[in-house]
Amino acid sequence: MPGRAKAYVKSYGCQMNVYDATRMAELLAKRGYDEAADEDEADLVVLNTCHIREKATEKVYSELGRLARLKAERGAEGRDYKIVVAGCVAQAEGEEVLRRQRAVDLVVGPQSYHRLSDLLTRAEAGERVTDTDFAVEDKFRALRRAAAEGKRVRDVAAFVTAQEGCDKFCSFCVVPYTRGAEVSRKASEIVEEAEALAGAGVRELTVIGQNVNAYRGAGEDGALWSLPRLLARLARIEGVTRLRYTTSHPIDMTEELIDAHAALPTLAPFVHLPVQSGSNRILKAMNRRHDASFYLDIVARLRAARPDIALSSDFIVGFPGETDADFEATLALIRQVGFASTFSFKYSPRPGTPGAERDDQIAEEVKSERLAALQALVEEQRQAFNAATVGRTVEILFEKPGRHAGQIAGKSPYMQAVHAMGGEELIGKTLPVTIVAAGSNSLAGRIVGQTTPDDAREAAL
Ligand code: SAH
Ligand code: SF4
Ligand code: F3S
Repeated sequence: MPGRAKAYVKSYGCQMNVYDATRMAELLAKRGYDEAADEDEADLVVLNTCHIREKATEKVYSELGRLARLKAERGAEGRDYKIVVAGCVAQAEGEEVLRRQRAVDLVVGPQSYHRLSDLLTRAEAGERVTDTDFAVEDKFRALRRAAAEGKRVRDVAAFVTAQEGCDKFCSFCVVPYTRGAEVSRKASEIVEEAEALAGAGVRELTVIGQNVNAYRGAGEDGALWSLPRLLARLARIEGVTRLRYTTSHPIDMTEELIDAHAALPTLAPFVHLPVQSGSNRILKAMNRRHDASFYLDIVARLRAARPDIALSSDFIVGFPGETDADFEATLALIRQVGFASTFSFKYSPRPGTPGAERDDQIAEEVKSERLAALQALVEEQRQAFNAATVGRTVEILFEKPGRHAGQIAGKSPYMQAVHAMGGEELIGKTLPVTIVAAGSNSLAGRIVGQTTPDDAREAAL
């Protein structure tokens, strides 16, 4: 007897995609699929794709080529193999995906994947299906039913979606086209999902959205809730010991949200606040609707509210028209703020966005040079930030066994990976840890009160 069919969901891109991938895995579990360890072991593969930069999109097609060969081998053995393309490339390119790769069975967008099961039924009947509609029905309501039956929570930290889509139309970005308009979920649904996660052992919740700080959702009291109002409610859920939110846009960074960093001890003192550039001219051309001093003012107010707050950001180098002076302004902003961590990218012209139409594109070598210079600076800052943690005692949420025997690994409020001596019974616990050393990618610490690993175990009981 052959075993149950297995499915593998592979996700690229942002946290929204990670969340969607988990939901699709739940839908597939409900349909009777076990989870495969990789695409070789699977009978069905979902590629949950990202369209943000050209490289991300190209990767999808090379990955699909590999899966097509796997499918042909299976076919020769008389076995079935289904390939599903989901996510933002599916949304942006739709039927083009089916045309470019004959082996693809189904293309489904980020706003219609709650219909995955019905779509698979059609695909199994031999139809090559595309569904990239922006659904009128409530995607999250449909997903809630699947989650109740198929939820698989193994992690201490989880994402919960509060808001989706974007109306900002930064001139470099495809997200408003792939994810659609800004929509907020009802607070009661978010709270319900968060309570279920906490009940299943989740201790850290990251509230996510393309512009999560623009959240405006119907509250439990009938009023329209903002993100800080929602965070205050989530902080009251039993078991939730740490809250985060991402990603935020500077123009939606309200006084109330800044104040929440002073008022809510559960809220991690860490904010990811993309600025993209330090040049006012480039920020204007990017349609970011804020300038450098506006950003610096938010940073100052966050630091006043919560002096130990750390910041991270996203940067784009080589936006069309960017001069050496513009780039210098970006470096100056970085020097002024001092970031704990960052993501930085070479500008990638995206079809259909205003930036791609411009005739003053920057040469590839210039982009590469600027990226290298920026990354050298932010790497210095990251190492300095990590080094400054040495000697401090910070709250670590333990998430998994460490790489070496007797070790346990967790995260600091600043997203730093930390390991300490301790047993697996500490997973899910938040403990004060004195940081004793900083490596290039993780910190070593000693649990406060611990002299030997055995003592640590005792202390945790
Ligand atoms: N909603 C978030 C992030 C969206 S995408 C925000 O407003 O900041 C994540 C990051 O990818 C962006 O912050 C930006 O730095 C980068 N990015 C987006 N489009 C890009 C492009 N065309 N080329 C290079 N980087 C890009
Ligand atoms: Fe893209 Fe700008 Fe929207 Fe962020 S705010 S998703 S960068 S358009
Ligand atoms: Fe990529 Fe779509 Fe997220 S383009 S970054 S997966 S919203």
